Amino acid sequence: MRRDYTLGGLRKQDVSTDPMVQFELWFRQATGRNTVDSGATGESRSPTAGLPEWVEPNAMTLSTASPAGEVTNRTVLLKGITDRHFVFYTSYESTKGRQIAANPLVSLCFFWPHLQRQVLVSGRAEQTDRESSAAYFHSRPRDSQLGAHASSQSSTIESREVLEQRMEELAARYPVGTTVPLPERWGGYAVEPSKIEFWQGRTNRLHDRIVYTRPFDSPSETPWEISRLSP
Ligand SMILES: Cc1cc2nc3c(=O)[nH]c(=O)nc-3n(C[C@H](O)[C@H](O)[C@H](O)COP(=O)(O)O)c2cc1C
Repeated sequence: MRRDYTLGGLRKQDVSTDPMVQFELWFRQATGRNTVDSGATGESRSPTAGLPEWVEPNAMTLSTASPAGEVTNRTVLLKGITDRHFVFYTSYESTKGRQIAANPLVSLCFFWPHLQRQVLVSGRAEQTDRESSAAYFHSRPRDSQLGAHASSQSSTIESREVLEQRMEELAARYPVGTTVPLPERWGGYAVEPSKIEFWQGRTNRLHDRIVYTRPFDSPSETPWEISRLSP
């Protein structure tokens, strides 16, 4: 399996000075809401044309590590972008939640094969406030809300029936028309990046890698340092 990457290039002088702005542009292109300019030919094309509908461009690999250095990763969905944070939702008592509580440094990886692009984020995760977690929780389908109550994420269970029985009990406890409360252990994480790398595949494995760095908690007017990395 050897594929050449010819879809486009990335030049330091063309990227935004703000990596969150650059990310939003790439994200809109990955989700098909913006076209991609094909550089040399000047043509625009819809990057998601012909993509299977099950492709989830907001899926990202989240890596976390215990203080002892045990690293784990899994896929989660990006559910929000602010001018400073990437936001996802999960259980605070899951393996990832426990690792983040002990060591908030995390890494995110987006891979958009249809654009021959990758974005890597090194950042620090913190729990979102309860109000925004509740707002997102209540925007989910009712059965997903019940599912969050039924599942003690990452714990061992006897069988699938245990979960199904819990779902039945919860459906009886919270009939349609009543509000399903936000579970104590469930909510969002906002990841503040200190490093974001944009990777564009190029021919002959001479890929473009543009990396932005800035210390955590910098005032928003502090400029990001932008460099090119060797592929
Ligand atoms: C496409 C995809 C999207 C997922 N999105 C989420 C998510 O947004 N939040 C979540 O908690 N788990 C999500 N999962 C499940 C996680 O990958 C993982 O199994 C779960 O969070 C438990 O991880 P942990 O035991 O490492 O904490 C998703 C899985 C896939 C394959």
